[in-house]
Amino acid sequence: MNNRKSFYVTTPIYYVNDKPHIGHAYTTILADVLSRFHRDKNDDTFFLTGTDEHGQKVQESAEARGIAPQEHCDNMVKHFKENWEKLNITNDFFIRTTFDFHKKTVQKILQQLWEKGEIYESEYGGYYCVGCERYYTEKELEDGKCPQHQKEPEYIKEKNYFFKMGKYQDWLINYIQLNPNFIQPEHRKNEVLGFLKNPLNDLCISRPKSRLKWGIELPFDNKYVTYVWFDALLNYVTGIGYGQDQEKFNKFWPANYHLIGKDIVTTHCVYWPTMMKAIGIPMPKTIYAHGWWLMDKAKMSKSLNNIVSPLDLIDTYGVDSVRYYLIRDMMLGQDSNFTEDNFTTRYNAELANDFGNLANRVTTLIKKNYDSVVPFPQETGDAENDLINTAKTLSDNVYKKIEDFKLNQATDEIISFIRSINKYMEITQPWKLVKTDKESTGTILYIATEALRLGAQLLHPIMPTKIESLLKALPLDDKKNKFSWGVLKPGEKIDAFDSLFPRIIKKKKPAPQKQKKPEINLITFEEVGRVNLITAKVLAAEQIPETNKLLKLSVDTGLEKRQIVAGIADHYSPEEILGKNIVIVANLQPAKIRGVESQGMLLAAKKGKKLRLITIDGDIAPGASVG
Ligand code: ME8
Ligand code: MG
Repeated sequence: MNNRKSFYVTTPIYYVNDKPHIGHAYTTILADVLSRFHRDKNDDTFFLTGTDEHGQKVQESAEARGIAPQEHCDNMVKHFKENWEKLNITNDFFIRTTFDFHKKTVQKILQQLWEKGEIYESEYGGYYCVGCERYYTEKELEDGKCPQHQKEPEYIKEKNYFFKMGKYQDWLINYIQLNPNFIQPEHRKNEVLGFLKNPLNDLCISRPKSRLKWGIELPFDNKYVTYVWFDALLNYVTGIGYGQDQEKFNKFWPANYHLIGKDIVTTHCVYWPTMMKAIGIPMPKTIYAHGWWLMDKAKMSKSLNNIVSPLDLIDTYGVDSVRYYLIRDMMLGQDSNFTEDNFTTRYNAELANDFGNLANRVTTLIKKNYDSVVPFPQETGDAENDLINTAKTLSDNVYKKIEDFKLNQATDEIISFIRSINKYMEITQPWKLVKTDKESTGTILYIATEALRLGAQLLHPIMPTKIESLLKALPLDDKKNKFSWGVLKPGEKIDAFDSLFPRIIKKKKPAPQKQKKPEINLITFEEVGRVNLITAKVLAAEQIPETNKLLKLSVDTGLEKRQIVAGIADHYSPEEILGKNIVIVANLQPAKIRGVESQGMLLAAKKGKKLRLITIDGDIAPGASVG
C-alpha cells in the first residue's frame, strides 16, 4: 500500500510566439520550488509545465517568420526547454498542445459535450483581441481598447459553436463561496465574484477555418477549429493521463495548485471550472494567481519591450541566486519591481554576507584547528541550547509558511536563523577561544556547522546546486531525518569547498550629494498639547492577510474599543503584543491602510532595524493621559 500524499502542481502553458522572460521563469521556478519542498517531504509529486501552441497569435508569428506553424512551434519550444533546464527546473512532464494524445482527448471531450447538448451552434458578434485570444463585450473594453493590451480589438460576426457556460453561473458563485481556498489570494477571489455579478455569457469555443487554421478540428464540424483556451486549459488533465491513463490521473487529480499570473484569472477561475463541471471532472483544490514582475512600474512583456532574459541573468549571477532573488523578493499575490540594484543588494547582504561568510568561517576554522575533522560536541550552555531549540522548530515553521503561500517569509525565516548563527559566533568568538580552550571551541564549531547544515537543507529547494555542493562537503548521517538535529557526523572529515557566494561588486553610481544637516524645528507648549497621548490595552491582534508587516489591533482606550493598524509584524507576533499596555495617539484622523480602517497610532522606538513598543511601566488603567 502506498500511503504517500500526492502533490500535483501546474504552471500555465506558455505561448510559443515568444521566448520566455523572467515573468514566465518566475511561475516556473515557483512551481519547481514547491515541488522540491514536497519531494523533500517525501510526497508523491507531479509537476507539469508546457507550451500552448495553437491559435491566431502563434499562426501570425509563424506567418511573420515565413514558416509552417508546427515548425515554428518546434523551434520555439527549444527556447523554453533550454531555459528551464538552465534554471534547474524539475518538471515531471512537458506538455505540448500539439501532441497527438492531447488533441485526441480534447476532441473526445468536445464530442461528449456536443452529444450531451452542452455545446450549440449560433451567430455571434464580438470584439476579438488577438493578444488575449478572446472576445470582449463592449462594456469590458476601456476607451474601446483591450484592457490588457491597450489595442483596439476587431469586431467579428460569424456563425460559431458555443459552450453553455452561462447556466453554471449560480453554481460557480456558490462553489467559490463554499470553498474559500479555491481561488487565492483573497483579493483575486473577490475580483472573480465581482465579475460574476454581471450575467455570465455562453463561451464561443470555435473559430471558422477560413479565419484560423491552426487549431484542433471540431469533431462534429470540420470547417471549424477549437478555441485555443478550450484546448489549452485541458492540458492540466491530459498532461496527467486523463482519457489515457486513468490510474495516473486518479493518483494526482485534483491538482493541489494551478499557479497562474493575474493576467489569466478569468479564463482559469470562470471558463475552466465551468468546463470541468460540464465534463464531470472534480475541481482542483487551489488556483493561485501571483502578481506581475514589473520593470520601472510597467508589466514586463514583449509588447512593451522591457523584458529581462533569464539566461542573461544566469550568465551574470548564477542560477541559484536568480532563483533565490525571485522567490525572496516577491510577496506572493502582489506586484514586484525588478531591478538589478535590488538584486545585487539582496545577494550581497543575505547570500554573500550572512550565508556565504558563515559557511566559509566554520569550515575554515575546522580545517585549520581540527585537521578538517568535525569536532565532538561537549557540554552545552544557554546560548547553545537556544540555537538548538530554534533549529528544532525551524523546519515546521518554514513549512507552515510555505503552506500559507508565504515563500518570501519562509525564506526570511531561514535567513534570520542563519543570522542568529552568526550572532552566536560573534558572542562566542571561537577564533579567539581556540587558542585557550580547544574543547569548548569544538562544541561551538559543531553547533554552528550543524545549524548551518540544517538551514542549508531548507534552502535546498530554492538553490539546489549551491546547497548540494555545500552539503556534499560535510560528513552527514543519511540514516537520520535530514530536518532533525545532529545529522552532522563528528569525528569525520569535511572536504574543502569553494566560497559559496562571492560578493558582487556593484557598478559605481554617481557620488551622492552631501546631505544638509536637518534643521531642528522648535515647537511651542500648545503644539505639544494638540497631540492627545493616552494609554491603551491590546485586546486582540492579528496579521492582515496579504501583508508582511501589518498587524490589526483591537485596543481598549478606557472609553471604547478601537481598531489600529500598525506596521510592526516584523517585530511582534500577534501573541507577543496581546495584553500589553501601550501608548497611542488618540486624536489622529482615521485612515484606511490597505483597505483596513485605523483609528489612531501607537508609539514605538525605532533605531536601524530594531523596533520596540512604548509600554507602561507598572499598572495604570487604559485611557490615562500621557504627557
Ligand atoms: O497566457 N510577471 O501564456 P503566456 C509575472 N498560453 N509573471 C508573468 C509575467 C510577468 N511580467 N509575464 C508572464 C498564456 N508571466 C496562456 C496560458 S494556460 C492553460 C494558458 C507568467 O505565455 C504568468 O504566469 O502569455 C502568466 O500568467 C503567464 O506567464 C502567461 O504566459
Ligand atoms: Mg500573455
